[in-house]
Amino acid sequence: MSYQEEYRNYLADPGEFWQSKSDLIQWFKKPTKALTKDENGFYRWYADGKLNTAYLALDYHLEQGRGDALALIYDSPVTGVKKKITYRELTEKVAKFAGALKKLGLAKGDTAVIYLPMIEETIVSMLACARLGVIHSVVFGGFAPPELAARINHAKPKVIVTASCGIEFSRVIAYKPLVDEALELSGHEVEKVIVKKREQLTDFVTNPTRDLDFDALVESSEPTGWVEVEGTHPLYILYTSGTTGKPKGVVRDNGGHAVALKYSMKTVYNAKAGDVFWSASDVGWVVGHSYIVYAPLLQGCTTIIFEGKPVKTPDAGTFWRVMSEHKVKLFFTAPTAFRAIKKEDPEGELSKKYDLSSLKHVFLAGERLDPPTYHWLKNLLKIDIIDNWWQTETGWPIVANPVGLEKFPVKIGSSTFPVPGYDVKIVDEEGVEVPDGTSGYIVLKLPLPPGSFPTLWQDNERFKENYLAFKEGYYLAGDGGYKDADGYVFIMGRVDDVINVSGHRLSTGEIEEIIGSHPSVAECAVIGLHDDIKGQVPLSLSVIKDGYTISSEKLEIELIDLVRSRLGAVASFKKNILVKRLPKTRSGKILRKSIRLISQKEDFSVPSTIDDPAILTEIRDAFKERGVT
Ligand code: COA
Ligand code: AMP
Repeated sequence: MSYQEEYRNYLADPGEFWQSKSDLIQWFKKPTKALTKDENGFYRWYADGKLNTAYLALDYHLEQGRGDALALIYDSPVTGVKKKITYRELTEKVAKFAGALKKLGLAKGDTAVIYLPMIEETIVSMLACARLGVIHSVVFGGFAPPELAARINHAKPKVIVTASCGIEFSRVIAYKPLVDEALELSGHEVEKVIVKKREQLTDFVTNPTRDLDFDALVESSEPTGWVEVEGTHPLYILYTSGTTGKPKGVVRDNGGHAVALKYSMKTVYNAKAGDVFWSASDVGWVVGHSYIVYAPLLQGCTTIIFEGKPVKTPDAGTFWRVMSEHKVKLFFTAPTAFRAIKKEDPEGELSKKYDLSSLKHVFLAGERLDPPTYHWLKNLLKIDIIDNWWQTETGWPIVANPVGLEKFPVKIGSSTFPVPGYDVKIVDEEGVEVPDGTSGYIVLKLPLPPGSFPTLWQDNERFKENYLAFKEGYYLAGDGGYKDADGYVFIMGRVDDVINVSGHRLSTGEIEEIIGSHPSVAECAVIGLHDDIKGQVPLSLSVIKDGYTISSEKLEIELIDLVRSRLGAVASFKKNILVKRLPKTRSGKILRKSIRLISQKEDFSVPSTIDDPAILTEIRDAFKERGVT
């Protein structure tokens, strides 16, 4: 079927379209009606269907005679370990860990937080939760204890699964003390903390009544079967940054998620059972949830869990080495990873050491695919380089070149066309559709497809206010962009206070809250500053309180420490500029957009609402002095 036909079928009747796609998975009870509304008036998918996601990702393949196929390859340049795990072995591991969780009293509807590095136990823990209908919430290992505490307080887990340590390049990062600190900060009591003791760090403080050893627990447990759950039963909560300090708990349902990911594996990625599909991301992010864990396993592919970095583990050839050694067919990462490789190996010489003939497509997402990175990769690999645009909220691509249906010519800077399931419109501030070629806010017509979030965890009001209030019947994506006359969609970046640092989504509002808590700081404004490798990095402008004296160097060091300890090193916050005052409107609103424009060296026009235009010149001078412009 052509893309046009498929897309027309979707537009004609989304409910009917997705009812027919429900056949992509094996239900215990097939849903009778794909699209319904719940008691809050929110759209829901496959409400009366019964399934189990872990069964679909594991046991189902055994039933199909694929037990000996490889499910997982663990490749860890930071520890020197490589391991191959079949579907049968992974099923056994998951069934046993699920048995362990069951023995601890976890049951359908309970929650569990997973704070683990990129190791096999992370996937096992997620799937074991799914097997029992326990809702997991994976927290990215780069987040500091207060961030972990905020997620624990909100998700209220019965257990936390963690490891003694993670490894960043050659640095061992103790995870267990971070969990202990987070639990101390949090008001929530967990029943058990299950710790995977890694040989790189065996010595850590244990709470004898609360902490359990992962391996010993598994050893003493019996395997358990799966629990049937409703299509709308939550599979996981994944917290993402909004515009405030309070993270948003994106909910993912079991039924819609399984159908949508299966659909995307064919339509967007053209992946078949047996293909080696590698996403070089982190399981803590949505790319990791969808395309390291669930989608490849649902499709019967081999997935790779890679514990390393694009560079320095041991060199900028590590991606090529993994692709060649494991015969990767489909590869997914964020553009920032290739920018880091390009910086160390500008001509891509290291790629020539490896046989990359298995590689068919490279997919990039998480941030804008900048043209220099596109050209570099295209010239080097001479295969399709495919951009796709999506978000934690949607869980799978919104705009993509649907290579599994029909491959379209690439227009650089565009992620190509809306994927069937997404009706993408570009509107102005009043919500009125704009003509082709005109930039505006991107909105998606409701219902969002299966797999996209039905709401925020225990926060229906915030869901409505943040996403649905802008335009009746539409979801506000938070990105700006335009469509050209051929219907290609171009994403131009966030229209809110969210920034993208190395493909990691961060809230400038949250960083402002942290900086504002420093005793000397009266007020501050944080913007995303262009960075050649990371895409953006946060930059803060701060004003100190009257009567306080602190040198700008000392303040900067203290603020860097504060952001690292409260949010995490992953924020890559390195620069604070001391200014006398911030540009504001007459009603006192900080003019962040003007600050952004100055940092981009753009000729800034003076907004008519500004209180004192002279401040913009002061900011420009302060930027010049620090080498920002
Ligand atoms: N646990 C603990 N700390 C972590 C961490 C984790 N899982 N991930 C990152 N950090 C720390 C890093 O060690 C670093 O600390 P430092 O400031 O003390 O050196 C800091 O957070 C910033 O990390 P990062 O943004 O990864 O920068 P980097 O300079 O270490 O590496 C890249 C740069 C480009 C190699 C790296 O960002 C990368 O691999 N990017 C790919 C992005 C990606 O996969 N994004 C997922 C979204 S699709
Ligand atoms: P996250 O929820 O962490 O996946 O971040 C989603 C945000 O990343 C989007 O709202 C965009 O701002 C940005 N993003 C993701 N993919 C792309 C892309 N292909 N092009 C441009 N921006 C992207």
